[in-house]
Amino acid sequence: MSTTVGRLTGKSALVTGAGSGIGAATAELFAREGAKVVVADIDLSSARMTAERIRDDGGVAEPFAADVSDEMSVANLVEFAADSHGGLDILQNYASNRSVVTQDVDVADASPSVWLKQLAVDLMGCMLTSKYAVPHMLRAGGGSITNSSSVVAWLSLESRPAYATSKAGVIGLSKSLATEYGKQGIRCNVIAPGHIVTPATEKQFSEIQTQVMLDHVSAPRLGRPDDVALAALFLASPDSTFINGQVLVVDGGLSAYAPMIPSFRRLTQGE
Ligand SMILES: NC(=O)c1ccc[n+]([C@@H]2O[C@H](COP(=O)([O-])OP(=O)(O)OC[C@H]3O[C@@H](n4cnc5c(N)ncnc54)[C@H](O)[C@@H]3O)[C@@H](O)[C@H]2O)c1
Repeated sequence: MSTTVGRLTGKSALVTGAGSGIGAATAELFAREGAKVVVADIDLSSARMTAERIRDDGGVAEPFAADVSDEMSVANLVEFAADSHGGLDILQNYASNRSVVTQDVDVADASPSVWLKQLAVDLMGCMLTSKYAVPHMLRAGGGSITNSSSVVAWLSLESRPAYATSKAGVIGLSKSLATEYGKQGIRCNVIAPGHIVTPATEKQFSEIQTQVMLDHVSAPRLGRPDDVALAALFLASPDSTFINGQVLVVDGGLSAYAPMIPSFRRLTQGE
């Protein structure tokens, strides 16, 4: 990880899904850059572990248990964040419902309740946290929101349609927020990761599938949580003050090439 220069000194940040993977890496990086962070997750023990790592590193962090799909829980979370650190400047949404992965099947066999569970966390969670964070940001004269989408919003994996739909919805929501509140100093952008190695993807993808992902990345390695956290830092920092309503793809070139290229490569390599 690069050395810190205090890009977020004095800022109050709330990170959801911060008990694991990308959210945890983002909370830790933001704290190293001087932000006071509320580490939110539905799983309190994992949120506590992230907050502990931040404090051990000399940073400021409070863990908080919250379910981003529950409006009251989100209202309490945002109030806690604003009370703890004198307002709220930065909102980072990484919470994702992985419990429905195996039930998110072809549309012809889909269960509406599975879809609602996926959308409730991955999409509505971003809306609810924004709903309660925006008034604090308006009072402060501005703020920055980053929501996590995915390249699957526009590159189908031939599975997980509810997840793909939730991530496409995040882009629409974020562009609406950017437009509604941009004049008042609130920016809202999207991070769209490709394949990032996190506890969730290690569980979801087999070794062979992970190798296939590596074959399709135009980079020497797969993505790491810190790759996304560094992009999130840019979007939350004053370095990106004039960037609003945009999607920053962090995928090692996965979505950069035409789909027939791997077949061409196999042909030229005589496979
Ligand atoms: N890892 C990847 O390859 C990848 C790729 C594209 C997009 N993303 C997106 O990036 C984000 C982070 O991904 P990750 O791999 O670090 O995920 P992860 O599963 O490791 O972390 C998600 C966290 O969200 C928490 N969570 C689940 N439901 C919640 C709820 N209702 N309220 C609050 N917290 C809840 C979980 O406890 C977990 O700690 C997600 O939105 C994911 O969809 C990840």
